[in-house]
Amino acid sequence: MSQAYPFIEHEYDVVVVGAGGAGLRATMGMAATGLSTAAISKLFPTRSHTVAAQGGMSAALGNMGEDDWRWHMYDTIKGSDWLGDQDAIEYMCREAIPSVIELEHYGVPFSRTDEGKIYQRPFGGMTTHFGEGTAQRTCAAADRTGHAILHTLYQQSLKHNAKFFIEYFAVDLLMDEEGACRGVLAWDLSDGTLHVFRSHAVILATGGFGRCYFSATSAHTCTGDGNGMAFRAGLPNQDMEFVQFHPTGVYGAGVLITEGVRGEGGFLTNSEGERFMERYAPNAKDLASRDVVSRSMTVEIREGRGVGPKGDHIHLNLQHLGSEVIEERLPGIAETAKIFAGADVTKDPIPVLPTVHYNMGGIPTNYHGEVVTVKDGNPDHVVPGLFSIGEAACVSVHGANRLGSNSLLDLIVFGRAVAQRCAKVIKPNTPHPPIPKASLEQALSGFDKLRYAKGDNSTASIRANMQAVMQSNAAVFRTSETLAEGVTLMNDVAASFEHVGIKDRSLVWNSDLAETLELRNLLSCAMATMVAADHRKESRGAHAHEDFPDRDDENWMQHSLQWVDEQGKVELGYRPVHMYTLTDDVEVVPPKARVY
Ligand code: FUM
Repeated sequence: MSQAYPFIEHEYDVVVVGAGGAGLRATMGMAATGLSTAAISKLFPTRSHTVAAQGGMSAALGNMGEDDWRWHMYDTIKGSDWLGDQDAIEYMCREAIPSVIELEHYGVPFSRTDEGKIYQRPFGGMTTHFGEGTAQRTCAAADRTGHAILHTLYQQSLKHNAKFFIEYFAVDLLMDEEGACRGVLAWDLSDGTLHVFRSHAVILATGGFGRCYFSATSAHTCTGDGNGMAFRAGLPNQDMEFVQFHPTGVYGAGVLITEGVRGEGGFLTNSEGERFMERYAPNAKDLASRDVVSRSMTVEIREGRGVGPKGDHIHLNLQHLGSEVIEERLPGIAETAKIFAGADVTKDPIPVLPTVHYNMGGIPTNYHGEVVTVKDGNPDHVVPGLFSIGEAACVSVHGANRLGSNSLLDLIVFGRAVAQRCAKVIKPNTPHPPIPKASLEQALSGFDKLRYAKGDNSTASIRANMQAVMQSNAAVFRTSETLAEGVTLMNDVAASFEHVGIKDRSLVWNSDLAETLELRNLLSCAMATMVAADHRKESRGAHAHEDFPDRDDENWMQHSLQWVDEQGKVELGYRPVHMYTLTDDVEVVPPKARVY
């Protein structure tokens, strides 16, 4: 059947899949150095999910008080609950400073201090003097920082003549027999044509997979497309059990209310009007790290101190900040709270609930963004021709729990790192090896299997079942019982996908097929998450296992790896955490108890 497709072929030095913050930073950087660069995106670039990032991007600029990138590094390692790779964290925190200055020069309209410097606000877990004081480290453009960065990077990419393939759905990687990536197969949603892109590097920058869950701050387009492609290429994903719940999603709607609200002085209260975070995190209080705050809110609700008629959520207060601060620093959330909760934030608290927000896990990479896997006993084997950045990747700089505002930072620092790496290792216009035919055939047969699927199960019903299981069985708190049941239920959901049915066979604007391809990706991510969570018998960062409430460094201070096959069967493996630094400018931060 696949011979029936007339392919349109393209050759580029580099191809980026995904045009959010990470993808655009890489695209712009590579195009600027003279590499012929294509960016493939299923969305118009400025609609990518980075547009929803509100609070800001961390960098120890010291514009609003003393700061040091080594303190940032310490905070990030502690926030990661000692699962982050310390060489990569050192790289990210040091490179944060030039990266944000570059963004300013590219034209990002950051908010300003009275002296005209980039405005910085406090965020959770960000301290000075290795945990002593509070750092103002998060560079912000009001509460629309992602929007500002995304638009600037898109304009810069156009300026450097990057070629965009917009509303193209990347189907699969094209891998050769030696395991090198040679390109990617994509489907043009608008006219139904299929495209083979040959390139010396493919950069997966496809974002997270938050839509495995029912309630998420992630856009409906966050469907783990790159992660699914990696699985189908026989590569593992890493640390998939670590799913971040943001403390303040709007109750009922799941829309994000930035941590910047608490950074500007907002606080949480329970049904007794108590600022309960003072009990759980006496020093950092409402600005403890996200896993700590989300667990504290969940305990308050469980113990009967939730607010609302059902006692099932919490109040976020910012009424005392006054309309001037709100209008200048938080205009977006005032609008969001009005639309989604009917709250006038100058008078009413916002009803909030911990909501799925971020995947710490993803495609394993080193700090250059090169994809790595375990091969012949080497845990850091580089997969030739394949890179990953942003939420799709696991560098790992966030370990078991990411600090707020380290995500925009990760996108920019590692998008830039990939651009620098590709500029170094790829010579423009080098001839391409032939298309790996077996890999293309495999990609097409998977595509056709879904295009012509005749089963009785609709995509929407399978997706809803998956989201319900993930929401109830891999939540803020997990137990041996909920996880074992979750594995059984997810196995059933994955099996039901064998009987999916598509009604529309056309290739032009076929949203039924696009959503089914997305579901294939989501299901592999969901399976990996549930099985890895069931397997990890400890509590660390966002993985709070009630039957194993302590961190167990002796047995579990290691990255988990997951391989998922076409049927959803998961195999597990491990990689050591990098407990070494990149330079002698800093020392390894040894594990200790994590208190805020
Ligand atoms: O709360 C926020 O503004 C989200 C930031 C982040 O996830 O880094």
